Amino acid sequence: MCGIVAAVAQRNVQGILLEGLKRLEYRGYDSSGMTVLHKGSLTRHRALGKVAALEEQLISSALPGFYGIAHTRWATHGKPSEANAHPHHSSDQVAVVHNGIIENYEHIKDTLQASGYVFTSETDTEVIAHLLADKLNSGLGLFEATQQIVNGLGGAYALGVMSVSEPGIVVGARQGSPLVVGVGIDEAFLASDPLALLQVTDRFIYLEEGDLVELGEQGAIRIVNRQGEAVERPIHTFEHGDGIASKGEYRHYMLKEIFEQPEVINAALEGRLSNNSVLVESFGPEAQALFESTRNVHIIACGTSYHAGLVARYWLERYAGVPVQVEVASEFRYRHPVVPEGTLFVTLSQSGETADTLAALRFAQTLSYIGTLAICNVPGSSLVRESDMSLMTRAGPEIGVASTKAFTTQLVALMLLTLSVSKSKGQPERADTAAEIVKALRQLPGLCQQVLALDSQIETLSQAFAEKHHALFLGRGAHYPIALEGALKLKEISYIHAEAYPAGELKHGPLALVDSEMPVISVAPNDDLLEKLKSNLQEVRARGGQLFVFADESVGIEAQEEIRVITLPHVHEALAPLLYTLPLQQLSYHVAVLKGTDVDQPRNLAKSVTVE
Ligand code: G6P
Repeated sequence: MCGIVAAVAQRNVQGILLEGLKRLEYRGYDSSGMTVLHKGSLTRHRALGKVAALEEQLISSALPGFYGIAHTRWATHGKPSEANAHPHHSSDQVAVVHNGIIENYEHIKDTLQASGYVFTSETDTEVIAHLLADKLNSGLGLFEATQQIVNGLGGAYALGVMSVSEPGIVVGARQGSPLVVGVGIDEAFLASDPLALLQVTDRFIYLEEGDLVELGEQGAIRIVNRQGEAVERPIHTFEHGDGIASKGEYRHYMLKEIFEQPEVINAALEGRLSNNSVLVESFGPEAQALFESTRNVHIIACGTSYHAGLVARYWLERYAGVPVQVEVASEFRYRHPVVPEGTLFVTLSQSGETADTLAALRFAQTLSYIGTLAICNVPGSSLVRESDMSLMTRAGPEIGVASTKAFTTQLVALMLLTLSVSKSKGQPERADTAAEIVKALRQLPGLCQQVLALDSQIETLSQAFAEKHHALFLGRGAHYPIALEGALKLKEISYIHAEAYPAGELKHGPLALVDSEMPVISVAPNDDLLEKLKSNLQEVRARGGQLFVFADESVGIEAQEEIRVITLPHVHEALAPLLYTLPLQQLSYHVAVLKGTDVDQPRNLAKSVTVE
């Protein structure tokens, strides 16, 4: 998704803005640009493709100046091109960067064109530049002009604007898309994500919906809310540190993040378990009472986070006896859901800024849920701030677009939720199983290490996929969502068409696809569905399908011609979905490397989808 960086500093800002853009690359984008204000005029460079292309322009022709705005664009209105890249200018008086969508831009554009404004791009953003120029020409200051025009903009957006009429000022606005203020020493910054600014500050103000901010000289920061009242927002210190935003010894962020899983699973558990049970207070002081009265759970999420929700359905029903519904946010928000009495609303999100998930939460707040819980990886994100309760997954920044460690830590958090609901409801008959699961959770990081050590075997296996166009993933029970996640990973980063089916459903259609060209990947932990799964695998073999099975060491599935088996250590049945996720991530990674795709920033995808 689009990324914004802006600075009002006491030094040349080109380097700060460029570094910020590089740090936002992970969000996904197709072009970039920068405008700097110097000696009363705006100078701009824009480039199609990677930020490196913009950097080349800056090397041959630098943009000196202390005030600037910059942007990575992910095309929504208008194709990826230099002309559509931000910043957009109006008569070299005003420069604008924008994240989000202006839904009523066509009407505004018609009006502006009728008044003589000439458009040079196909974007919705350009209307903002001309609207601002119009207001400034009528004598308003930049802050007041921005305040007036945002009232007439429909949709969701974050903005950064500057004007030659007030050189030392950058104005930002937040309405539905994330925007943070970086608090420097006598300097101030704006960005879509704190990661973009960690090279200059670790102190941030998270703007609220409807906020307008002015960054001025000497680090001055002025914020007004939607009602136009001056407000103070708290300054938060960013906790993660800066080193984690680098690849370290790894070739790709995704590989680094896969290998971080033992460590971040440990972090997700830290301080949240007692000897043999979960500490319900991890969810906050009000959690015990809320979980006690929880009679249903609705889980809403998008993408990989949605798959974590699907696993949680099996867990909450089996280990806490609570009925669960799981749905993708973009569907839920436009339905007319019936909310049974005593229903807890849970959102799952790595970023906490996914537009559909956030909209679903706001919609849920108008319904009769007993409370809202966000399971999220980014402290201070919109989802966390707007939910009644939250639990952080503590995976640290995830840079690879394809989610890996965020998913497994979400699963840890969801198991903690399952055990907490059961404990709060007082279910003595489940206490022994809960104690076993707690013990198994502690062993999980070590087991993950053992699976990661299979990497070279999995790399060898991946060679069988490099020339394939399709793949089928099978799983049963809580491993069906793991098969879905395995298929999603393969699609996202290797561009191989992959589908996942519950193995028992094979004969109701997908079996027709199976022949010697169709690799079929299955996860076979030692659980009560194993024998049924084995029969399903026979169905594949009988049709000449190539089988790739990740199996528990004790299940006795032997490698043969057309069956490749990778053996995984034994894990408690409840936690097998967590462990079996890892080899599927590793497989997708190695297939993508063999295919030579852009592993960390796959085509057309964005890390954080902040528009609908
Ligand atoms: C995008 C990302 C996915 C992610 C999904 C939900 O599509 O590419 O990796 O799973 O958004 O994101 P969230 O931050 O809400 O978990």
